[in-house]
Formats: sequence, C-alpha cells, structure tokens
Amino acid sequence: MAKRVVLAYSGGLDTSVAVRWMREEWGVEVVALAVDVGQQEDFGAVRDRALAAGAIDARVVDARAEFADEYVARAIRANALYEGKYPLVSSLSRPLIARHLVDTARDVGADGVAHGCTGKGNDQVRFEVSCRALAPDLEVMAPVREWGMTRDDCIDYAERYEIPVTATKEKPYSIDENLWGKAIECGAIEDPWNPAPEDVYTLVRAPEPGLDRDAVVVSFEAGVPVGLDGGDLELVDLVGVLNERVGRFGWGSVDMVENRRVGIKSREIYECPAALALIMAHGDLESITTERDVQREKQRLDIRYAELIYDGLWFSPLREALDAFIDTTQRHVTGEVRLALSPGRCAVVGRRADRPLYDYELATYEAQDSFRHEDAAGFVRLWGLGLEVWSRRQGGPEQGTGPTRGRS
Ligand code: ARG
Repeated sequence: MAKRVVLAYSGGLDTSVAVRWMREEWGVEVVALAVDVGQQEDFGAVRDRALAAGAIDARVVDARAEFADEYVARAIRANALYEGKYPLVSSLSRPLIARHLVDTARDVGADGVAHGCTGKGNDQVRFEVSCRALAPDLEVMAPVREWGMTRDDCIDYAERYEIPVTATKEKPYSIDENLWGKAIECGAIEDPWNPAPEDVYTLVRAPEPGLDRDAVVVSFEAGVPVGLDGGDLELVDLVGVLNERVGRFGWGSVDMVENRRVGIKSREIYECPAALALIMAHGDLESITTERDVQREKQRLDIRYAELIYDGLWFSPLREALDAFIDTTQRHVTGEVRLALSPGRCAVVGRRADRPLYDYELATYEAQDSFRHEDAAGFVRLWGLGLEVWSRRQGGPEQGTGPTRGRS
C-alpha cells in the first residue's frame, strides 16, 4: 500500500474524515490538495481544516483560468451537453483536479492519490480513470468506498477526532460547484416527481419585480468567447459576469433524470446560466459560419464529445482526435451573437460573423435576389424521381398508419 498520498480535498465532511481515517486505518501520510475551480469557498479555512484533521501538508491551487481556458473553452466549442441538457459542470472539473493531484504527488514524492467519492457516482470513475491515464504507477485510493460509514457516522467520527467540520445531520443536499455552474443532488429531489424546493436555487433566482429587460452581445474568436458588449474579457471573468447577468432573469437551470456511468438513473438539478447561454450562442454562430455537411457531422460528434467527458475519458486518444476535428471546424466561428434577456427567458435574437456563409443575396426575396430560379425545377425533379417511380410501380405510401389509430 502507498505510504504517502495526495488527497483531493474539498473541505467538506467526507474528505475531512478521509484525512484522518486514512492515517488511522491505513497508516498513510496525507497531503491535502484543494483545487480552486471557482467554487465559493474560504480556502484559508479549508487549509486549516485539513491540517486540523491530520494532514501533513495542505495546499491550495488556483486553477480557475486553466479550467476556463483548457476545459470550458473546449466544451463550448463542442456545444457539450450530456444527454442534450447538462453542460458537464462537475464532469469537466475532475480531469483537471486529477492532473493537479498527479503533479502534487510528484512534487511531494507521494506514491498514491486519493479521492472522497462514493461507489455510486460518476466522479470516482473520472478521478480514477484520469489518474491512471496520467500516472499509471500511482496507486489510487478511495476511502469513502471502503469505510462503510453513514453520513451520521462521519459526523460522529469528526466529533471524536475534533475535526472542525460545518456539516450538520440535517444538511439536505450534495452540492458540487465551480465557475461553470452548480450541481445539486440528494434530499427532497431524489423523488423525480417532486418539484425541486425553491431553496435549491441560488444562481438562478426568481427575477425581482420590475426587473428591466437586458441584452448582451457575446463575441467569439475561433469558437471561443472573448468578450461581452464589445469589450474584451478573459473567459474566466466572462463566465462569471454572464452567470450573474443571465441568472438574475431566472433562466439557466436544468431539472433532469440522467444516466450515470454506473448504471443508475439519478435526478439532478443544475444551475448553469452562463454555460447554457454560451453554448446556445456558440451553436447559433456555427449556424451561419459552418458548411452544412461539416455542421451535421459535428452535431453527431458533439454528442460523443459530451459523453466522453461525462464518462471520464478526457485524457484519451478519442478526445484528442475529436479535438483535432473540432479545431478545423472552428476556424471561421468568429463573430457576435446577440442575446435578449427578460424574466424567465434568454434567447438568441441576432448573429453576425466575419466570414459568414449566410449570403443575403441568395436568401432574400427582395429585389437584390441573385439566386438562379431556373436551376431549381430540374434539381427538384431529379430529387423526387425515385419516389415517383416507387409510387407508379408499387403504389406509394400506406394509408392511415398514425400511432393513435385503433386506440378507440
Ligand atoms: N451528476 C453530475 C455528474 O455526474 C454531478 C455530480 C455532482 N457531484 C456531487 N458531489 N454533487 O457530473
């Protein structure tokens, strides 16, 4: 068994107990590593808690810009929505955290890394698969999967060892947060028929009465957001600003039942106004800049891209190959998208590009029309030729086969 391990430390109950438990039960030295990916957290207090729990060292790395530029930017270019809805908030941060675990392990001479995930979730898959792809020589340890303690047992354990955790026995949700959004599970939302209680929502709030409409213009360069309303912004800041500007209109949450990698369906609430707005805007800009066949093929591969992020395969040759494809598709995805905001609504209402494929003179029904109408008749006749033969020789379509026929 490993002698010194670097633990992905959140400062929460499970990972705080894990520091002590690994030391007591496995006799390992624990280095706690907290990675700042934009969660609201007092990292000074997080460090102190890790040391109080018995870590030999506690470190914090600020990975916000790296998360935005290397992970979020790629997800936007791939319009990455798992099962068409979830912008991969937690899924995207795990490979980055794994990379920092491995780097820190090298730095402190550790022979193992550890995480605080349970055996029922996706995050264990992402941490372990990522660590194995990056550093196959390191042991990956998962104390929470082995200790068999309930949440209440953990609270008692923390009390016994005087670990200063803030958890209480009635804390209702499991929350994971970063700059790309917030994931909420457990408690009252485990019944998929129950509407999520209002106290679940913090980023996507009920709009204040009398809130004025707003409009925001997002600039993209080669598929990456680079500014708002004509001014330049680093992606990490741009996402923060949009979360606020869009969220205050009460738009940008997802309520879904998703398929976990481990075979469980689970009900999740996500708050991710910036993510949903940026992916919508990016996809729209592609609609005027991307050639039809490339666009269609990309839409199929975008689905695959989201799945591979969800399934923990960020560090894989498939991701590299898909990125190579996506890179070539984004060369001309440069331009602006106008979003209109009003209570409960965020919608694209305008788009323009430096080199659009949208051609006004081809599209217009006005006098500037340059389309060769005479070409259309022959094209359409040949397009339908096979069906005409089918109709003449074999009688064409069946009648009356609608799905409600005969239901009485
Ligand atoms: N279901 C989401 C995913 O697998 C979110 C997981 C969030 N983790 C948490 N500890 N709440 O990506």
